[in-house]
Amino acid sequence: MKKISRRSFLAAAGMTVAALALTACGGSSSSTASSAASSAAASSEAASSSAAAAELTTVEAGKLTMATNAAFPPYEMTTDTGAFEGIDIETAQAIADKLGLELQIDDMDFDAALLSVQQGKADIVMAGVTVTDERLAVMDFSDSYATGIQSVIVPENSDIATIDDLSGKKIGTQRGTTGYIYCSDDFGDDAVIAYDNGLTAVQALNNGQVDAVVIDNAPAKEFVAANPGLKILDTSYAEEDYAIGMAKGNTALEDAVNAALEELKSDGTLQSIVDKYIVAE
Ligand code: ARG
Repeated sequence: MKKISRRSFLAAAGMTVAALALTACGGSSSSTASSAASSAAASSEAASSSAAAAELTTVEAGKLTMATNAAFPPYEMTTDTGAFEGIDIETAQAIADKLGLELQIDDMDFDAALLSVQQGKADIVMAGVTVTDERLAVMDFSDSYATGIQSVIVPENSDIATIDDLSGKKIGTQRGTTGYIYCSDDFGDDAVIAYDNGLTAVQALNNGQVDAVVIDNAPAKEFVAANPGLKILDTSYAEEDYAIGMAKGNTALEDAVNAALEELKSDGTLQSIVDKYIVAE
């Protein structure tokens, strides 16, 4: 099973990895890109395990260390028994398999997860992370693998019906998220309260400590389903792209992650993971 995934990764990763695979098994470096790729695939038995993993320098050898905040269903959450599950978890596992690495999940606060890759403590942050210019200044991102929407949750009987109605209200958000950033930009720091996670923000809404919660639409739906008396406004606040964050300048890892992601998109694996967690309306 693992061997097959590595072989397909090598073939898809193209020149860089294929050339390295050839070097690793003593092949000629004068081969063209396409013949290098096919001979790498043909000789994957000999070259694969060391080549794919050997090229990638990861935080912990042989592992793909993923920082996340597993309080963000359906992207990352824990089961009753404490296991991690969700779209990001399964996608990261599929990427790790293709890279021939063992997936190591480190659960922490969202703002800490973003810092983790910048500080070299994790290889990737996968946490429904929105690509923003500010983040691009301090980290690199993979190609996007999903889109997100910032939504507004209010009590069913709320007088808030539009984004403008948030003016003068208390807004709950998760610390370090785009929801927090947009709301404090638009409505002022004093209007926005930052909570440890989305659920604590929703509990504050239930208790009347805030008038609305701004959070990504997919978790918003889950929180509203679990908390009677709340609803999501029809108008969305912002549309975003989710991607995998990595330390700046680790092009070997970025290329490998993007190649794996591309395969997972084109062979339908990514969609089937999404379909497992998000039921089409
Ligand atoms: N998409 C938002 C952002 O990037 C929120 C992500 C929160 N993710 C989480 N796992 N808590 O800021």
